Amino acid sequence: MSKRTVRVIVVFIAIPVVLCLCIQLIPVWLAQKNPPVLSEPTWDNSQTRALAKRACFDCHSNETVWPAYARVAPVSWLVTLDTVRGRRHLNFSEWGQARGEGTRQVAEVIREGSMPPAMYVMMHREANLSQSEKQQLVQGLQASLR
Ligand code: HEC
Repeated sequence: MSKRTVRVIVVFIAIPVVLCLCIQLIPVWLAQKNPPVLSEPTWDNSQTRALAKRACFDCHSNETVWPAYARVAPVSWLVTLDTVRGRRHLNFSEWGQARGEGTRQVAEVIREGSMPPAMYVMMHREANLSQSEKQQLVQGLQASLR
């Protein structure tokens, strides 16, 4: 092998592989916890809860489903940060506790399509609510969260 070939291998393969392995050592899994469910809103019906579970619970409850790819950096960083920040704004599992200020905006964010986030919907087809499901969720949440 020429010196040039060796250099190319080191720069474009060896160093990236070592970096990828190194970032796995940052212990984000410590933050990937599901604390106990303390209290939920008084759901107006089970359909509302089911829709919220499909589209919101991974980031706004303590019942997060952590998929295998969420263990691998750097995806794990994004997923963990979303959940930590999401729970802080609105947590359906700690209802009536220190309540995030997200409650007021629930209808608005669903209608305008900013929640669930587009990236999340790409990875979770079941969170892709139809127009009528969105409407049902908005009405259900308005009835449940007052
Ligand atoms: C992929 C994770 C994820 C999902 C799924 C998700 N959210 Fe969020 N949500 C977040 C994050 C992260 C924030 C904080 C955003 C910020 O600080 O800008 C947030 C913030 C919010 C807020 C507060 C908005 C504000 O401007 O302060 C509301 C309300 C909300 N989400 C509702 C929902 C509802 C309702 C659903 C389901 C239909 C949902 N979210 C699904 C991650 C998520």
